[in-house]
Amino acid sequence: METTLRGPGSESRPQSPSHAWQDDALLYDYRQAANPVRPGLTEPIPYRQWDPSIHADGPTAILPLDLSAELGVPGPATSPALAAHFLRLKAGDGLKAAAIATSSLFYVLRGSGQLERPEQEGEPALSLCWSRGDLFILPAGVDPLLQAEADSVLYWVHDAPLLAYLGVAPTTARFSPCHFPAERLERELQQLLNDPSAARANRLSLLLAHAAFPASRTVSHTLWAMVGVVPAGAVQPAHRHQSVALDLIIDCDPGCYTLVGTELGEDGTILRPHRIDWQPGGAFVTPPGHWHAHVNESGGVARLLPIQDAGLHTYLRSLDIRFSAP
Ligand SMILES: [Fe+2]
Repeated sequence: METTLRGPGSESRPQSPSHAWQDDALLYDYRQAANPVRPGLTEPIPYRQWDPSIHADGPTAILPLDLSAELGVPGPATSPALAAHFLRLKAGDGLKAAAIATSSLFYVLRGSGQLERPEQEGEPALSLCWSRGDLFILPAGVDPLLQAEADSVLYWVHDAPLLAYLGVAPTTARFSPCHFPAERLERELQQLLNDPSAARANRLSLLLAHAAFPASRTVSHTLWAMVGVVPAGAVQPAHRHQSVALDLIIDCDPGCYTLVGTELGEDGTILRPHRIDWQPGGAFVTPPGHWHAHVNESGGVARLLPIQDAGLHTYLRSLDIRFSAP
């Protein structure tokens, strides 16, 4: 069989004197480069868990949950696109939550205080009183100042790693600042728990959304947030999605955990699962594409707050969320 190519070619091509156009032009055999997500190349996202002791005591500080060295990306980064942190503020202290990000989400794990952001071009000054259980999200703009009235801990997730990878800085705010007060979240969760159909459900969750993004139903164009309740005795069927989840455990009793793994058995359970035991105020990573299921063997209700890059994945039509058979 004939295997000689008869494509275009040039015996002699004039060279550009100003730039060595071909020096960085590489070619790989497809068979060696088709899947570059592997250790030593594009590092897979690891299982990782942070104990609440990292924010328990100490001075006012930004505490990044930083996996940038393992991922081989500029830090701090918890996943290729997102960075999660704890912000620990002593009463009376303030700190700036500075990030070159399109979306910056805050959840108040404990304490209370104020957010202040000065006036900027075309945007009025911002001010917000926050307290335990509040969630608020800010678009790109001037860095906010968080001022604590009481000793406080906030969970902070933003998408600066994505922008750093793209080599860009935001030019515009894509949505308005938005606040979900604790009492509204509690009221809506209680309504879910009171719903007669909830007695049969083992997944009771509120998806937080911004009115600017009706198509994706996400809290920003990149971020996705959910307040989830796992009732006592619940064993959730496994599900998976291509977004990463940076999970915060809001509260739980001993006996709550998540099972994570890459394969399902014929009965829909996760084969050879990695077990992540929950701790109130702890955090963990659920890698994209991994099956995961939450289990509550304690006697009380448990709550979690997963933050994902599912706003971006939904826009790209790459979320690919799937559920195992119940
Ligand atoms: Fe999930």
